[in-house]
Amino acid sequence: MTALIDVRGLTRTFGTGSHAIRAIDDLDFRVDRGEFVAIVGSSGSGKSTLMNMLGCLDQPTSGSYHLAGVDVGELSDRRRAGLRSRTIGFVFQSFHLLPHNSVVENVMLSEVYRRGPRAGRRERAEAALELVGLSHRLEQVPTTLSGGERQRVAVARALLGQPPLLLCDEPTGNLDSTTTASVLGLIEEIHRAGQTVVMITHEHDVAARAGRIVEMADGQVVAA
Ligand SMILES: Nc1ncnc2c1ncn2[C@@H]1O[C@H](COP(=O)(O)OP(=O)(O)OP(=O)(O)O)[C@@H](O)[C@H]1O
Ligand SMILES: [Mg+2]
Repeated sequence: MTALIDVRGLTRTFGTGSHAIRAIDDLDFRVDRGEFVAIVGSSGSGKSTLMNMLGCLDQPTSGSYHLAGVDVGELSDRRRAGLRSRTIGFVFQSFHLLPHNSVVENVMLSEVYRRGPRAGRRERAEAALELVGLSHRLEQVPTTLSGGERQRVAVARALLGQPPLLLCDEPTGNLDSTTTASVLGLIEEIHRAGQTVVMITHEHDVAARAGRIVEMADGQVVAA
């Protein structure tokens, strides 16, 4: 097995002096290609901070991060953004959809960022939306959707272009049990199709769906 994610001695500090918070504290973390890993831990334990760094959205104060064999810390901003858009799909609690674009446009846009081929883009977006059960909502704008429907748009968007890594931060946090089951089913399908999944969750029955559970406390991995 080869590592898709290889994090060593990672530290992320916020603020300075006596107010400094060590959100991530000398953390080692590795995920092999094809794994489905759940990250659990109490509120404030550093899960989202870690996820932001895994997603190349934030940079560590110190330590190293290799993504698909590439040392992320060595890249220019432009190359890091390129690696992110080619490699990672996001389903984040706080990852907003563009409010003035239709559902199908929101999904198509992920391929624009990913520089996927233009031909067939709309058809691929519609197919991804069919998979998440939203074929009847293609032309609506996100503000007219329910929370669960919006999250399913985010899953469809993350699916497009089949990025090797799917990062999810509380993907079912705001959903009822039926919608949770359908979003989790989709994530499992993505994993079965060969993509690597890392998912943060508070819910233990959600975490139990993963192949491996990693527990965080005080910015460190305490159990894996
Ligand atoms: N931008 C920031 N500035 C200052 N402190 C921050 C910042 N982001 C996170 N922190 C702090 O880092 C710690 C870890 O936060 P993080 O968001 O990673 O926790 P979490 O495990 O995701 O929690 P939750 O389960 O509530 O989402 C917290 O104490 C938080 O206050
Ligand atoms: Mg969080």
